[in-house]
Amino acid sequence: MKWLCSVGVAVSLALQPALAEELIGNHPLTPEARDAFVTELLKKMTVDEKIGQLRLISVGPDNPKEAIREMIKKSQVGAIFNTVTRPDIREMQDQAMQLSRLKIPLFFAYDVVHGQRTVFPISLGLASSFNLAAVRTVGRISAYEAADDGLNMTWAPMVDVSRDPRWGRVSEGFGEDTFLTSEMGRTMVEAMQGKSPADRYSVMTSVKHFAAYGAVEGGKEYNTVDMSPQRLFNDYMPPYKAALDAGSGGVMVALNSLNGTPASSDSWLLKDLLRDQWHFKGITISDHGAIKELIKHGTAADPEDAVRLALKSGINMSMSDEYYSKYLPGLLKSGKVTMEELDDATRHVLNVKYDMGLFNDPYSHLGPKESDPKDTNAESRLHRKEAREVARESMVLLKNRLETLPLKKTDTVTVVGPLADSKRDSMGSWSAAGVADQSVTVLTGIRNALAGKGNVLYAKGANITNDKDIVNFLNLYEPAVVVDPRSPKEMIDEAVAAAKKSDVVVAVVGEAQGMAHEASSRTDITIPQSQRDLIAALKATGKPLVLVLMNGRPLALVKEDQQADAILETWFAGTEGGNAIADILFGDYNPSGKLPMSFPRSVGQIPVYYSHLNTGRPYNADKPNKYTSRYFDEANGPLYPFGYGLSYTTFKVSGVKMSAPSMKPGDKLTASVEVTNTGKRAGETVIQMYLQDVTASMSRPVKQLRGFDKVNLQPGETKTVSFPIDVNALKFWNQQMKYVAEPGKFNVFIGVDSARVNQGEFELR
Ligand code: BGC
Repeated sequence: MKWLCSVGVAVSLALQPALAEELIGNHPLTPEARDAFVTELLKKMTVDEKIGQLRLISVGPDNPKEAIREMIKKSQVGAIFNTVTRPDIREMQDQAMQLSRLKIPLFFAYDVVHGQRTVFPISLGLASSFNLAAVRTVGRISAYEAADDGLNMTWAPMVDVSRDPRWGRVSEGFGEDTFLTSEMGRTMVEAMQGKSPADRYSVMTSVKHFAAYGAVEGGKEYNTVDMSPQRLFNDYMPPYKAALDAGSGGVMVALNSLNGTPASSDSWLLKDLLRDQWHFKGITISDHGAIKELIKHGTAADPEDAVRLALKSGINMSMSDEYYSKYLPGLLKSGKVTMEELDDATRHVLNVKYDMGLFNDPYSHLGPKESDPKDTNAESRLHRKEAREVARESMVLLKNRLETLPLKKTDTVTVVGPLADSKRDSMGSWSAAGVADQSVTVLTGIRNALAGKGNVLYAKGANITNDKDIVNFLNLYEPAVVVDPRSPKEMIDEAVAAAKKSDVVVAVVGEAQGMAHEASSRTDITIPQSQRDLIAALKATGKPLVLVLMNGRPLALVKEDQQADAILETWFAGTEGGNAIADILFGDYNPSGKLPMSFPRSVGQIPVYYSHLNTGRPYNADKPNKYTSRYFDEANGPLYPFGYGLSYTTFKVSGVKMSAPSMKPGDKLTASVEVTNTGKRAGETVIQMYLQDVTASMSRPVKQLRGFDKVNLQPGETKTVSFPIDVNALKFWNQQMKYVAEPGKFNVFIGVDSARVNQGEFELR
């Protein structure tokens, strides 16, 4: 028995040798063996032990480690999250394996969303890479580092499609598009779970937040979601389904209500759809405190009622509240909850533990004490090379007037802005066990690039914001935003003086990471005024002005687009962000990222997304007409469309060639274009294929992404890029909620973004 290697296990054998040997062994990882094992185990468990398995507890001030250890001993806990070192985790697992009656292993989870120790770009940045191989790398390394820290599960991927940049959590997802989000989510699950979540360096995923959390009204956090079934199933559900089809063992249930029913008490969502129609076999976990919140949602009268409702609706494990433990015993006694229902929930918890291989070796992600890293935060544990490569791919060149970029390494560069030297911000939200001190800022990245060649001047130039209330908000839980006590004028003057001495100014501006996070919705998505004042002053110097943006959502950038000579969107690029940014600024890497969300001109345009319906009166910019669908006080459409992003070279895309003019449902067609690099540098671009069902029984989007391919071309080189199309790409949920492909004409659009496309067509017979 492998787990004997852990210290002190002899004690446990003395206590319960027979039972322990029965549980821990060499169990085949098949569903049949698992079901038989879990059925037997359930028979041995007391009611309290079953209830204990449903409790997922967070280590923190409310639940200090000592208190948790007591609970583990009494079999009152099934899993732990927010503890991330092997010694800490081993101590808890020892407690379960040595001192609890049945010795059921715990599992350990954490929010490993875009890296564990090595922090990669935030998910919105990963989506901008349009590169599934890069996402696979991120998933593999994140899982490796997480498993190496002793973890078994991650609360990822987050695949909430969102079309509202006011919502801070767009930073955690893959943007506005259903297809792109599905592809990214599926890839993450495959990469993180590997061949099996039981493997030494894999973790089980828990796709979130089920369902449609990204559509909160007004982009306001935790708000209501209400939408037609057609929109729900055509646009919002496919990414969850894709993650589950890829085998995600967990589902985290959303905090919002959906069409009037809180997701945590929605038996249609969690049972009829998830279990009966989608055949999900893994575990459902409530989000943080969500069961309690059913009372405030107004669907549960009191705590006991909330527990009854949640369990009966299909929530297996309760995250971070004591409600299941407190109220299930009484509910069982009164018959309001049946033993069958309790067994069902417990079975799911035990199933995933089995799938994680914990009944073969509860210490499989821990190993013996002697193997623990001497320094948890050791440099050698990081994957810097991969972090830099992925970060470069995640950045989007929004503007490059007169080829301002790339810069020369012999230049004198003035680096300014509140984000230029901020280690914490570079990592973005949910930076897991990443250590801010290990991240490379833009200032450092530029200094590294220019070492021994050019000169670097630096001035902070402005604080993130001059609004004290916002600073207090951002610093509520950690001293994340450091405020320079000087007056705004003093800071700007210093930056302007430095700018005047240089060849070019690089201003690193945008949002503090805490502005694009959970619980950080904004009504104003511009760059804060303190920084806009700085930009205006820098512009007035007449020096070439490069804006390096850090932000976790699309921003309204009309003014900056006019002021800047070049704009590079870098999101929050992670541990190696600064080096990756310098690689782009100085031409060591040719930018290739594309926007996964449309950038509105102003907040008033929201929602603005490319895959909208046409309406009966579509606006035509070439023939503007008053009685069309538009705002009269602003240009129509986004400032930068979905899929947009420039390169230091140029690409020409030929007309669309179809392999045949029509297809039958069983056939396959190919749409292809020739792509030529017409510039002077080698470069990559993302060729995007969109489809439109021209006439159907319901209005269908003006275009929908159905394929993308990142191609690398030498100057003058031409490649053929082909996209297969089969009937599945044409299907949608119709008015009767049937999933159909309707015969008729389809347009095919292929291009370098959602607006610049060439058109082909075919017919489905
Ligand atoms: C968030 C989840 C997260 C969980 C655990 C919640 O507040 O909504 O996304 O996984 O906390 O940290």
